[in-house]
Amino acid sequence: MEIKKKTIFSGIQPSGTLTLGNYLGALKNFTELQDEYNCYYCIVDMHTLTVRQDPEKLRERSYSLLALYLACGLDPDKNVLFVQSHVPCHAELSWILGCYTYMGELQRMTQFKDKSARHQDNINGGLFTYPVLMAADILLYQADMVPIGADQKQHLELARNLAERFNNIYGETFIVPEPFIRGGSARIMSLQEPSKKMSKSDANVNNFILLTDTRDDIVKKFKKAVTDSGSEVRYDENEKPGISNLMNIYGAVKNLTAAGVEKEFEGLRYGDFKKAVGEAVADVLAPVQDRYREFSEDRAFLDKVLKRNSEIAFEAASKTLKDVYEKVGFIVY
Ligand code: TRP
Repeated sequence: MEIKKKTIFSGIQPSGTLTLGNYLGALKNFTELQDEYNCYYCIVDMHTLTVRQDPEKLRERSYSLLALYLACGLDPDKNVLFVQSHVPCHAELSWILGCYTYMGELQRMTQFKDKSARHQDNINGGLFTYPVLMAADILLYQADMVPIGADQKQHLELARNLAERFNNIYGETFIVPEPFIRGGSARIMSLQEPSKKMSKSDANVNNFILLTDTRDDIVKKFKKAVTDSGSEVRYDENEKPGISNLMNIYGAVKNLTAAGVEKEFEGLRYGDFKKAVGEAVADVLAPVQDRYREFSEDRAFLDKVLKRNSEIAFEAASKTLKDVYEKVGFIVY
C-alpha cells in the first residue's frame, strides 16, 4: 500500500547571503527529507519588500539563493524550488486571509514590533500584514509541517489559527500545519555574542560565517570567537555559552554528540579547539562553495528550474485557491 507523503513547506527570504547557521540549522537537513516528504522550498521575494530593497540586488539574491539550495544538495526534480512572486496565488490568498485576521493579532507580533522599531522611517502596511502572506504561503500547499526557527513560531501559530478559523466557518479547507522541529538540528549562535542567534544582518561580521566566506576568513573568525572562563572543552550552555556553541557547530559538522566532542578535545586548549572547528567548517563548506559557483554561472539552468517548478507549484496552489474562492462565494469557472 502506498502511503501518501506528507508535505513540508519552507520559505527563505533572499535578503542576504546565507550563514553557517542556515546551513547547519536547516539546509543540510533538508536534503535528508527529499525522499520521504513532498517538499516545497520557496524563495519569498515578496516578503523582502517590507523593507526597502535595491531591485538589481534583490534579483541577484533570488538567483543566488536558488544556486545555494542546489549547491547544498537539494535535487530540483525531487523538491519544488520556486520563487514566491512567480505564483500569483500567494498574493491572492493573502488578501482573503487578511479579511479573517484581526488587527489585534497582528499588533501582538513581536517581529512587527521589533522591525517597526528598527525601521521607524518606513513602518508600512506590508510589514504589518507580513504574517498573513506567510500564512497564505503555507496554507496554499496544504503543508503538514513547516520547519521553522523559534523566531517564526508566533507567525506559524497565526497560520494555524487562520486555518482553523476558516475551516470552522466554511468546512474543511486547509490542513492545520505543525511546526517541524527536528532533533539534532543545531541552533547556531553568534560567534561574538553567543546569547544571540547567528544572523547575517548583524553589524559585526565576526559574529557570523557566511556560506560564501573564504577558508581564511572562516578560520580567522573562529580564532576570534569568544570563549568562556576556564580552559576545558566542556558542554555547559549556562556557564560556557561560547564553547558550547562551538561544540554544537563542530558536532553538527562531524556528526558527533557533545560527549563525543568533549572526548576528542580532552586535555587540549581552547585555541586548539577553535582552530579545529574553523578547519572542519571550512572543509565541509568547500564542496558546497564549488558547486555554488558552478550553479551561479549557469543562469539558463537556474531559469529552467524556476520555470518548471513554478508550474508545479502553481498547479498545487491554484487547486486550494479555487476551493477557497468557491467557499467564500466568488464566481468560479
Ligand atoms: N518569515 C520567514 C522568515 O523570515 C520566511 C517565510 C515566509 C516563511 N513564508 C514562510 C517560513 C512560510 C516558513 C514558511 O524566516
